[in-house]
Amino acid sequence: MTRHRVAVIAGDGIGQEVVPAAMGCLDLVAARHGVDLDWRHLDWGSDHYREHGRMMPVDGLDILAEHDAIFLGAVGVPDIPDVETLWGLLIPIRRRFEQYVNLRPVRTLPGVRSPLAEAGPIDLVVVRENNEGEYSEIGGRMYHGLPEESAVQEAVFTRRGVTRVARYAAELAAGRSGRLTSATKSNGIVHTMPFWDEVVREVLAGFPDVELRSELIDALAASLVLHPARYDVIVASNLFGDILSDLAGAVTGSIGVAPSANLNPERRHPSMFEPVHGSAPDIAGQGVANPVGQLWSGAMMLDHLGHPEAAAELTAAFEAALASGVRTRDLGGTASTAEFTESVRKIIEESA
Ligand code: NAI
Ligand code: MG
Repeated sequence: MTRHRVAVIAGDGIGQEVVPAAMGCLDLVAARHGVDLDWRHLDWGSDHYREHGRMMPVDGLDILAEHDAIFLGAVGVPDIPDVETLWGLLIPIRRRFEQYVNLRPVRTLPGVRSPLAEAGPIDLVVVRENNEGEYSEIGGRMYHGLPEESAVQEAVFTRRGVTRVARYAAELAAGRSGRLTSATKSNGIVHTMPFWDEVVREVLAGFPDVELRSELIDALAASLVLHPARYDVIVASNLFGDILSDLAGAVTGSIGVAPSANLNPERRHPSMFEPVHGSAPDIAGQGVANPVGQLWSGAMMLDHLGHPEAAAELTAAFEAALASGVRTRDLGGTASTAEFTESVRKIIEESA
């Protein structure tokens, strides 16, 4: 048995529903591959905030550091500002553990209908820079409430930061189609984006077999809607990657199926696996949330922990469940979270 210590933060809203659902399937598939997932539940999130004024304990990051991976549901509730929930938990984890790659695969799944009439089969990966760029703490506000009130926020791009994410994306592209698209806006953002372009080009000089195309973010957004099947690996800054991955996910059909991995590729620190969706307060507590985004994130975790066969088996199982017609409400079906999860479990058990 290979044992991995996994910290679990189910968090808020539907995180409390999809995380346990996914864990059951993960345990089942892991056991079949000689893997023992040693879960440690951490009841952090908005309830913790209401009680203690913090999303996680003061030594929360030290606690997480003792684990091989972090499995997260979602955080966020309507009555606490998102800036508290995000900067009190997610962003400190991503930065302290140098999870500088946010990997978001987007793929056509059986039974998940694209809102586009002619999307074609989509199979792409957005590699989002996850530690710097536009999401910086540098800036401020002055003259609060006065007519001259103003706000300034600086974007921070470093050679080290751009180099490492570009290298990760180039390696990924080399193992897939050999095509890499870089999102830029060097015609309007005249300091950071030309720098991004330069560093990406320098890195790609070391990958002669990877074809690099730089596309302006506005045209790229339009093109992703018009011709999503043309894209394979897209590397983008923190903000551009955030927007593009939601867009690409929406083009395939439902936010409920989209997974993500926050990776520290050097494995010096734990990586974190979470669905792209949030806590969905509009459907929380009803037992109707789609667990596919959480399941797929779990498959990415198994893969990262060194168990690609187990990951592939789990992915095949939820795809088979979808193909068999069992679907949650967001996909036009009637299945509850529990019913969908049960059908995934059955498929795993029957494939024995
Ligand atoms: P959301 O992703 O929670 O919900 C958007 C829409 O998609 C809602 O109509 C929801 O019902 C639906 N949806 C999302 N996941 C679904 C699933 N698994 N199955 C079925 N339907 C699903 O985004 P929203 O409403 O903008 O944010 C709600 C809260 O979540 C906010 O507090 C936000 O800050 C937080 N959030 C947290 C994230 C995280 O923890 N990484 C990511 C995104 C949002
Ligand atoms: Mg987002």
